[in-house]
Amino acid sequence: MANPNLQTDKNVLTPAEKEFENTIRPTEINDFSGQPALIENLRIFIKAAKIRGEALDHVLFHGPPGLGKTTLSRIVANELGVNIRETSGPVIEKPGDLAGLLTNLEKNDVLFIDEIHRLSTVVEEYLYAAMEDYKIDIMIDSGPNARSIQLTLQPFTLIGATTRSGLLTAPLLSRFGIKSRLQYYNAETLQKIVIRSAGILQTNITAEAAMEIAGRSRGTPRIANGLLRRVRDFAQVLNDGQIDIGITQHALRALNVDEYGLDEMDNRILSTIIEKFKGGPVGITTIATAVGEEPGTLEEVYEPFLIQEGFIQRTPRGREVTYKAYEHLKKDGYKGGSQQNMLFGA
Ligand SMILES: Nc1ncnc2c1ncn2[C@@H]1O[C@H](COP(=O)(O)OP(=O)(O)OP(=O)(O)O)[C@@H](O)[C@H]1O
Ligand SMILES: [Mg+2]
Repeated sequence: MANPNLQTDKNVLTPAEKEFENTIRPTEINDFSGQPALIENLRIFIKAAKIRGEALDHVLFHGPPGLGKTTLSRIVANELGVNIRETSGPVIEKPGDLAGLLTNLEKNDVLFIDEIHRLSTVVEEYLYAAMEDYKIDIMIDSGPNARSIQLTLQPFTLIGATTRSGLLTAPLLSRFGIKSRLQYYNAETLQKIVIRSAGILQTNITAEAAMEIAGRSRGTPRIANGLLRRVRDFAQVLNDGQIDIGITQHALRALNVDEYGLDEMDNRILSTIIEKFKGGPVGITTIATAVGEEPGTLEEVYEPFLIQEGFIQRTPRGREVTYKAYEHLKKDGYKGGSQQNMLFGA
């Protein structure tokens, strides 16, 4: 039931999968589906920055893996008509690395820092002045001759991406003029994304088959595209390359894909709460220890989808699983939520 074939996290993608992601990644705002409120705002901010000939305000994209943060960052640079330089938090080891990146930017360029929650404290402090006044202090020489000089940078836009916005410090957060959280996608939007990707892969897919994939993709385009890739293999070998509902259902069964698209960790969380904690309520830290994950990751990466889909609910006394989770995992012993018990005076 848990599906080991689904990968939400880009850090575990194979080189072939990364290459595949880049092939089907939309590059223009019009090809990006979903996130309507966010896109509508971005269009305005981009247009306004272009009219004024200024750098766009600094942008933070946050939200669970695979929802389009990197994709959107590249789209923003593309729509602004500027260069994008991409790096990531752990790669910028010293202030000098940051200075190197910043001084190489041209006017209004985008500097994209992925995993921005992993910046070191010193580097982060250097970034403050750069973001605020387009200035950085750099140290030249060392020992008794050490002195710092101030460099003025070209105006630029920092785009930060993170799955863990809870780890960002208040001073860093406050320097982003635009902060956008990406939401899980509904099945209709994922269906559209799958159909578009199939088109790029020159594969025929029926609307019904695309919907079947969409419904099992955990609200996540990365997973939808990954499943499409696997289903296409089955179609190629068994069905003349045509992806219809029959071959899709066959492939998804063979791949052991969960009916709701839950991944291994999702299912582990649910079964742990049921088996070890009688369905809850149980605190997030206790669950985290039991499944071997950080509490923050559970809270920001896994739990939102499980709550949205009604597998878990938050109560004043902790998390508890719902009847839907028992049913999904085919477990007995549902005793009714504590909320319900309270309502009925139990
Ligand atoms: N709205 C969208 N429309 C079409 N395709 C999308 C959309 N969002 C994401 N994708 C596809 O999903 C894949 C993953 O997206 P992306 O790499 O931007 O996610 P991410 O949020 O940066 O993930 P991570 O947190 O792991 O870095 C890409 O290949 C992209 O093509
Ligand atoms: Mg990314």
